Amino acid sequence: MSVVPSAGNGKVTVPSILERKTSPSFGSQSPSKITCLTAYDYPTARFLDEAGVDVLLVGDSLAMVVLGYDSTLPVTLEEMLHHTRAVRRGTRRALLVADMPYGSYHDDPMEAVRHAVRFVKEAGAEAVKIEGGERRMELISRLVEAEIPVMGHIGLTPQSVNALGGFRVQGKSEEAADQLLRDARAVEAAGAFAIVLESIPRELAARITAELRIPTIGIGAGPDCDGQILVINDLLGLSFGHKPKFARRYANVGEIISHAVAEYCSDVQQGQFPSDEESYHLPGEHRDANLARRR
Ligand code: KIV
Repeated sequence: MSVVPSAGNGKVTVPSILERKTSPSFGSQSPSKITCLTAYDYPTARFLDEAGVDVLLVGDSLAMVVLGYDSTLPVTLEEMLHHTRAVRRGTRRALLVADMPYGSYHDDPMEAVRHAVRFVKEAGAEAVKIEGGERRMELISRLVEAEIPVMGHIGLTPQSVNALGGFRVQGKSEEAADQLLRDARAVEAAGAFAIVLESIPRELAARITAELRIPTIGIGAGPDCDGQILVINDLLGLSFGHKPKFARRYANVGEIISHAVAEYCSDVQQGQFPSDEESYHLPGEHRDANLARRR
């Protein structure tokens, strides 16, 4: 069974994402920015896909925004596969990328390739994302050799939260910025088709973007990247706790849910729901007989 829709009819593919680095958009001199969002379930994937988002990422942020953990570390391979399958069923046009969770690629490279193959074969992902720069070079090359396109991810890499000592902006010192430049070059040299730059200074993201041949996708990395990604729950106002300054909220769906549910509870308690029109009825003659019996 092939779960991945075939290319054509505007389907976003790995080569078409790479082309966006250089080809100007219609009626403009500059390439059009790549739009990416996270998705974790079927209905959200359908809405985002039909709205024209280029890339859907089943992020391991799943752990925090959907499963209620306080970091991305606990989410398992099976949980990520389960949610990737759901997103696959709702995605036709967008490129579907799955995040490899913490622990699924940190030990034996052969095992990491086997895990990545499961995302493609069992869950219909078209690419995987892995965190880390220079130290992931060998793994990225192996994945690419196994025909699995890779999206890199450097800067604030949430799977390194313990090593980094928290969720902090990265690359602020000259040394740290130089390391991130080396990381970005390494990810590109290893064969990744795109790279996420998370929580780094705008100036550094602009420099990396200008230097690389592959598209950069920013989150908290300023407007000069080739594309942007946000966590869908942040964009929709469906998340709790600290809101990073880059996470612009486009709607307050959390508030809409609270109001709708409060109204529902009140209607049920006051006998306003369901109404007669929202009820099924017996056919005419039985209905009359029933009503007569009740009187
Ligand atoms: O897991 C995730 O949602 C991510 C994006 C924020 C880039 O890695």
